[in-house]
Amino acid sequence: MPRLTYLSHAGFIVEGGGSRIVFDPFLTGNPLAKAKPGDIQADYIILTHGHGDHLGDTLDIAKANNATVIAVFELANYCAARGANVHPMHIGGAYNFPFGRVKFTIAHHGSSAPDGTYTGNPAGVLLTMDGKTLYHAGDTALFLDMKLIGEMNNIDLALLPIGDNFTMGIDDAVKAVEFLRPQLSIPIHYKTFDVIDVDPNEFVEKVSRTGFKARVMEVGETLEY
Ligand code: NI
Ligand code: MN
Repeated sequence: MPRLTYLSHAGFIVEGGGSRIVFDPFLTGNPLAKAKPGDIQADYIILTHGHGDHLGDTLDIAKANNATVIAVFELANYCAARGANVHPMHIGGAYNFPFGRVKFTIAHHGSSAPDGTYTGNPAGVLLTMDGKTLYHAGDTALFLDMKLIGEMNNIDLALLPIGDNFTMGIDDAVKAVEFLRPQLSIPIHYKTFDVIDVDPNEFVEKVSRTGFKARVMEVGETLEY
């Protein structure tokens, strides 16, 4: 079973398929993060988009670990130009890596690097390994195609932004759960900044009323799925 560790915000480490895969490692300047970039071991780093709270410490971690950054083409090029190994992909495309399969899906949001460089479209990610499918929604509004993602994939674990202001708020994220039909949902992208200070327990309660399951992960907590 893959092991998922929460780094805070939209950041995770997934251990599975014989690899360590890190999502959106925003640690420096993140008031909720407990880990430091130097603590992170990674074989691959998957990025949902180029915003600073997702790109985060990617370049330092990638170079220190000789890790490969997996991202949409423009964001991968941005990282490659700054010395990282990359594997460019794009939305709708999937690729079989040694650890499992990665597919990029749509997300309704923006995407540029902190220096203003355009970094392509933002994305969500389907990661299938060890027979389990994880969906990281990235930063996104609610969209009806989540129904299609749920219909075409048996999602074991969904990581969904709930913080509002920049992404779905709680009620939209609850509707996302109904569209995606995952075994378990975990709220992300809340409390890091004042404008996204929402209560994740409200999300968990509202999801449970729909017959689905959600739970809050503490920063640094690990679960198997
Ligand atoms: Ni963003
Ligand atoms: Mn964000």
